[in-house]
Parts: sequence; structure tokens; C-alpha cells
Amino acid sequence: MDIRQVEKRIDELIEQLNLHNHNYYVLDQPTITDFEFDTMLQELNCLEKEYPALLRFDSPTQRVGGEIIKSFKQVKHTYPMLSLGNTYSEEELKDFDSRIQKLIVDDFEYVCELKYDGVAIGLTYENGVLMQAVTRGDGVQGDDVTANVKTIRSIPLQLKGDYPEKFEIRGEIILPHAGFEKMNNERIEIGEEAFANPRNAASGSLKMQDSKEVAHRPLDCYLYFLLGENLPYNSHYENLLKAKEWGFKISNYMVKCSNLDDVFDFINYWNKERTKLGFDIDGIVIKVNDYQQWKQLGFTAKSPRWAIAYKFKAEKAISTLLSIDFQVGRTGTVTPVANLRPVQLAGTVVKRASLYNVDFIQNMDIRIGDLVYVEKGGEIIPKIVGVLIDKRSDNTNCFEFISTCPECGSELIRKDGEAAYFCQNENSCPPQIKGKLSHFIHRKAMNIDSLGEGKIEMLFDNALLNDAADLYDLNYENLIGLEKIIESGDDKKQKKLSFQEKTVANILNGIEKSKSVGFERVLFALGIRYVGETVAKKLAIHYQNIDNLMLASVDDLITVDEIGEKIAESIIAFFANKKNILIIDRLRAKGLQFAMFTEAVDLISNVLEGKSFVVSGVFEQFSRDELKLAIEQNGGKNIASISSKTDYVLAGEKMGQEKRKKAETLKIPIISIVDFLEMVR
Ligand code: IVH
Repeated sequence: MDIRQVEKRIDELIEQLNLHNHNYYVLDQPTITDFEFDTMLQELNCLEKEYPALLRFDSPTQRVGGEIIKSFKQVKHTYPMLSLGNTYSEEELKDFDSRIQKLIVDDFEYVCELKYDGVAIGLTYENGVLMQAVTRGDGVQGDDVTANVKTIRSIPLQLKGDYPEKFEIRGEIILPHAGFEKMNNERIEIGEEAFANPRNAASGSLKMQDSKEVAHRPLDCYLYFLLGENLPYNSHYENLLKAKEWGFKISNYMVKCSNLDDVFDFINYWNKERTKLGFDIDGIVIKVNDYQQWKQLGFTAKSPRWAIAYKFKAEKAISTLLSIDFQVGRTGTVTPVANLRPVQLAGTVVKRASLYNVDFIQNMDIRIGDLVYVEKGGEIIPKIVGVLIDKRSDNTNCFEFISTCPECGSELIRKDGEAAYFCQNENSCPPQIKGKLSHFIHRKAMNIDSLGEGKIEMLFDNALLNDAADLYDLNYENLIGLEKIIESGDDKKQKKLSFQEKTVANILNGIEKSKSVGFERVLFALGIRYVGETVAKKLAIHYQNIDNLMLASVDDLITVDEIGEKIAESIIAFFANKKNILIIDRLRAKGLQFAMFTEAVDLISNVLEGKSFVVSGVFEQFSRDELKLAIEQNGGKNIASISSKTDYVLAGEKMGQEKRKKAETLKIPIISIVDFLEMVR
């Protein structure tokens, strides 16, 4: 292909991919498979790598992030970012309507919209290109979060159709329930604290320094307000419909109402149906439609007179706190859970509520026997939001967290700066052992799907399974005929589980098959605290095998992408535990993969032959792995840390001071990405 053909192909691919992105993320109507999409994306990626001059800002490859921001630039809003007056009462909504009736003599219409419960954002477009994304901040100025916002697939980087030359559009960044739950499960899996609700998660995601991380958060954005000099219409509703044509995600549930009765119908409908939306709304926004009438109505000091937010009352119930359970997780975290007198709330019977940690209980002074308010916001687990202190009986005691593990009796500890208590008896506390085994066989780890939690429990109870390595000692004789009565479901129905020929064969097959699972997943399966799927992958690629990883120091570990001190220290602690080393040795003897498959790299040239490189820091256009591959493809060698044997240090942004000093002391040339590209050209 000559360069013109390449350019044409890139244009075609971008047009196609952007269209499919829009179909998937904005319209919710994909027309091709993920595989087809990924294939096109990969082709585009390759062409852009080969011809960096042809890289376009609106390429979907630019959605993966990469920019790292230490502190967000403060930007003054062109138009102050006001909020809305809000009310929970029908009466006040009637007052709002009467005021408008008085001030406006002509007919008028309302637009009713969902009130998204997320983070407000203002997007500025110039000539159809997304220029800036700013948070509300104090309403006068906010944080420039453009790099992070560009990773949100439903926000167009380039508009279509006849848009004004310059305008701002405001909306709400939200995290839909499905993404929120998946994300929280993953966080819990790697021992991180779960977000309390989707709004916190969206807000936390938007403020992350590494936009690559933000790209992994399943954020979405609905737009609801246009600002600018040359908007196509003189009314809100029509402009929003136009903005939909430019590519924005505008709600399909926005309606025009000509009287208050219709407004109340809309409110009542969504108060019931909101649980089916798949994301949180906390009310309905009612706006006058006509801009001329906006002018007549004007503003109060804080908010426009032409709009109001009617907020749904969170559904609340009163119940008695009967007792507190303490659950011990895979990594030893002890989580308190409230047992409540069963109470009807938002269509379900609530018996349990999350109590998060000791601080939560103590700050609210929650005591056993108390009458408590339980609330359900959206679909999320019910929580205790208050105590009826004046109804408290005299004989209650202040809550004290347990000091020993409810499962194994070991003493609990609480580390500095952490909210949770831990049971440190990781090798013999039953829920920790069973939790670790369940994690080990998990689909994303060793994927032994012929075993599940019930079977793990049964093998554990029969003393056949105490750690992951025991799995590989299981055989036909000790499995066949094994029996257990289990209780399942809410009604605790009894079921007999018995291992027959077929089950045994399946289990043994699944275990055997797992021996070919790749190193990165074996590493994840080991269940090192804070080492989730992504981190395990990064470590596996960086260190290539478990021996290199076991030798790594904290200083060395933190040079790896996404590894901070907390993770590094957890890795060191894991390998310092002799029992873990013993398990690894046994697993290794059974034939599990503790090294990456080294694929022979196709050589492009040998200009780097005999040269060793350390790649460090962050690069705008390439990931470190891509650069390492380029080094190997040109005959060079990658090494993990700087020593006298290093020929070059390829330095990106944020390379650690320690490394720089070491390279300077050893007089090793520190080269930039430009120098490197020059070498391999
Ligand atoms: S209109 C000048 N429409 O709720 C008012 N806001 O307290 C412009 N919100 O600041 C805002 N859904 O962050 C508007 N459909 C919607 C909304 C909405 C959620 C948020 C927004 C606003 C706050 C009001």
C-alpha cells in the first residue's frame, strides 16, 4: 500500500469503528460482533503504529487512555455551572408551577427528564471536536478531566452533521449497575475496598490520575443541557434532539408536558419503574422548554427559575438490629453484617444490611437491639442510615468489635490506616482456606469448572483439600463415593451430593487440563493480596517467570506499570511465607506453568544485536510492552533492572529518581523515545 492508500484505509476504519462505537455505546444497538470490531480495531492499531504521522485524534484507538495527570488543571467555566432548586414535595412543585404561571403570560411547555445520579460534566466542542471536559468544581471553576473523559466510549470525539462552531454541552457521567457490580466484585477479589455506590465510583474514576485505568471503568454519559451563542433552536427539547443527531447520548425518556398533571404522571411512572433502568436516578428534572421564557424567568442567586428537580424519597424502613455476624473473606478481612428483623422495603424483604467496618458502626453508635432506619438507594445492598436513639432501651451496650476470629479463634489485627480487621491465620482459618481454593479454581484463574464451592467444601471437610497443591494429589480412589448432605437455598432444602464415576472423571479431567493454564493466570490464582487479574498479567509479562518475581525487591516491583508500594509489599510478604513457597514448589512439581511461553519473536532487523535495554517510565504513544517487543524484534535484549550490564535505559515520563541516579552513576546512556526510534529506523 502506498501512503495514500494507507490514509484512505485508516479513514475508512475510523469511520466504521466510530459508527459501531455509536451503535453500541450510544444507541445500545450493536450491529456487528465484538470479534469483528476488535479485528478492525487491531488493523487500525497496526497501521497507526506503522505510520504514526497518520494518527488521528478521533481514532477509537485513542480511547484507551495513556495520559497521566498529577494534578488536574483548574479551568474557569465559560458559563457558571449552576445547580437546580430541588424539592421532595408535591406541594412545592405545585408552587413552582404557580410561580411560572404568574410570570409567563403565554402558553408554555415543560420538559421532564430523568435526574441522573452521577457526576456533572461540561464538554466544550469547537468545530465538532471535543476540546475540553470540566467538572463542576465550585460552579465557577472545575477540574480539567479531558484525558479521562475521552476514554468514555459514548462521548463523541468528533461530531457529525451541522453542529454550531463552538458550544458547550453538559450532562452527567454515570456508572451503570452492571458495570458497577462487576467492578466492585473485582475490587473485592483483589482485596480493595468496594465503592459504596455508583456515584462515588463514577466520581472516583473521573479523578484518577492514569487515564488508562479510567478506560477500564465502564462509565457512560447522558447529556441534558446545551449552552452557546449559535444553537439551532430557541428551545431546550428541540436542541437536545438535534444534539442526538450530532452523536450525543440523549435520553429517550425525555418528554414534553403541557400541564402539571402530565408532569406528575411522568414522576409517578419513573418512581416505580426506575429500578428497571439499569442505572441510578434520584428524581425528575422539570424544565420550561422555551429559551425566551427562560429569559423572562431568570435566575435566583443559585439556580434558574425555569427548572426544578423533584427528588424521589429514598425508600426507608424501620427494623430492629437483632445481631451482627462477622464474615471472614479469602484474604482474612473480617466484615460485619447486620441481621435485621425481616422488613418489607422497595418490593423485597430485607433481612441483612451491610455494616462496612468498625468505624461505620462506631460513628453511628449502632448497638444490638436498636431500632434502625434501613434505606435502599437504587438496587444496591440496603444500608443502615440511622439509629432511633430515643427509642433505645437502657440495657444496651456500646458496640465492640470482636478481638478474635469467629472462625478459627486467632487474634485479629488492624493495620495502620486500614478500616478493616484481619485474621492473620491465612494457612489454617477455614473460610480463608476455602476462599483461596475457590479463587484458585475460578474461571479467570485455573478455570477448573468441574469443581465449585460446594465440592470444595466437601473435599475440605473430608480432609482431602487444604491448599491448592492438594488438588493435584486427588485421585480416583479418594474421590469415588464421597458423600455429603448440603443445605441449599433460602429454605435450606437438604440435598445429597455424591461423587459418581462421571463426576470424578470430570473433576480429575478439569484438574489435569488446568496444568496448561498460562503463567499469568497461575499467578493470579495464587491469591496474593492485591494481585488481581490485571496486575498478575503485568507482573507475568515483566518478570517472565516466578523465579524472577520472587527475587524482585520493592524498589524493582514498583517500576512495573500499575504496581504501587502496597501491592509490592504484599508480594514480598507472600513470598516470605515458607508455606507459600512450599505450595509453589509442589505445584511446580505437578507441572503447572510458572513461566511465560516464550514465543520466538520474528526479527525485523539486528541493529540492536548484543545490546541490553531497560525500559522505564511512561510513554505517550507506546506501552512499555510494545517497546520491549520492538527491542526484541530488532535483535536487542530486555532486562528488568539497571546494572553494569545495561547498555541503554529507554526513559519515558515519570521514570523513578532512583533509577535515573543509578543509570547516571553507572554512566549508562539514558535515551528518549525519539533516540530509540532513530536507532531502529
Ligand atoms: S439541568 C442549570 N438536567 O442534577 C441547570 N441537571 O442539582 C442545569 N442532573 O447540576 C442542570 N440530571 O448535575 C439537569 N436531566 C438533568 C439532570 C441534571 C441530573 C444533575 C446536574 C445538576 C444537578 C441539579
